[in-house]
Amino acid sequence: MLIIFNNEVTKILRIQYPIIQAPMAGGVTTSKLVAEVSNSGGLGMVGAGYMTSSQIQEQAREIKKLTSNFFGINLFVPNEFHVTDHELKTANQLLKPFREKLHIQDTDDVEIPDYKKVVETFHDQVKVIIEEKIPVCSFTFGIPSREIIHELKQHRIIVLGTATTVKEAIEIEKSGMDMVVVQGSEAGGHRGNFLEDHQESQIGLFSLIPQVVDNVSIPVISAGGIMDGRGLMASICLGAKGVQMGTAFLTCIESGASEIHKEEVLHTPEDQTIMTRSFSGKWARGIKNRFILDMQKSEESLPKFPVQNTLTKGIRKAATVQKNHEYMSLWSGQSPRLAKKQTVKSLIESIVEESTLILSNK
Ligand SMILES: Cc1cc2nc3c(=O)[nH]c(=O)nc-3n(C[C@H](O)[C@H](O)[C@H](O)COP(=O)(O)O)c2cc1C
Repeated sequence: MLIIFNNEVTKILRIQYPIIQAPMAGGVTTSKLVAEVSNSGGLGMVGAGYMTSSQIQEQAREIKKLTSNFFGINLFVPNEFHVTDHELKTANQLLKPFREKLHIQDTDDVEIPDYKKVVETFHDQVKVIIEEKIPVCSFTFGIPSREIIHELKQHRIIVLGTATTVKEAIEIEKSGMDMVVVQGSEAGGHRGNFLEDHQESQIGLFSLIPQVVDNVSIPVISAGGIMDGRGLMASICLGAKGVQMGTAFLTCIESGASEIHKEEVLHTPEDQTIMTRSFSGKWARGIKNRFILDMQKSEESLPKFPVQNTLTKGIRKAATVQKNHEYMSLWSGQSPRLAKKQTVKSLIESIVEESTLILSNK
């Protein structure tokens, strides 16, 4: 093994290479994907933000049959939200033309999420992670209560937080979490920010890593646009101890992303991803399409996550079934040109090979 890979992250997570497959909620992180990453020397992670506790239990048991190595589960920390009838009506009005285009019904019967219930579900999710003795638990969208972090750690579960600024990373360290994933603005999917929501807090990874490293003493894992050995080695040079990669694993054979999503990523240039909050009410990076562009002028006023996410569920589902990429949420980071259709094993092997070449100056 390369000596450079022998660090706190690989030691604590009991992995061969400092490569974490990003948790990707919404069906991407199949048991096969997660287990294959863990079996290939990295850490596989389940994106369980939208899953019930029984779904988490079922998948955890399935993964345990496929690998005896460490793997992790990721949850969304609930953030309080309120929505008025007027806001709902306006948002539904904006979505009407898309529903018509996809020939789906209006959504009077959609159950609008209730914050109290969201919190209850979150507690059930944490409980099952403890019961199933999942080795690693990571969070995004915020910091869970001290009690939750304490309980997870008491059960010897390694706890990771997500930060998009130095300030957030410092708060994560203070909360007692073991490691911090720093998410640059290049990253695909939802922003993990929880202290600020303005444009200025979208920091590029090259700027973010060393500034976080200088301000916390827990290990830093970098995320955003990393696709190969060059990204891994650059992250390590800047002070990160590991990487978390999403888009690169999304196009792998074992990933559960729809074929249309994979194909879109494989054929998108770097300047065609955009931040949008129209799909979910939370800013996220995805491939530009009709839905994002048509909703752009109203996106600031839409209901917060997870309300908007619930309102667009039918549209996203119908678009996927109808293979219509114009109305799907096609999350992707800013390095889609580097994505390949390959197995997890070959992706990880090539990252290690490239890193070795870089180190030997070839
Ligand atoms: C399809 C998709 C879904 C994602 N879902 C989650 C999630 O559920 N939880 C999370 O912490 N991060 C999620 N992310 C963000 C990743 O953790 C990570 O920050 C991002 O993938 C890094 O950028 P990259 O895609 O360019 O590698 C998601 C990313 C993608 C592409």
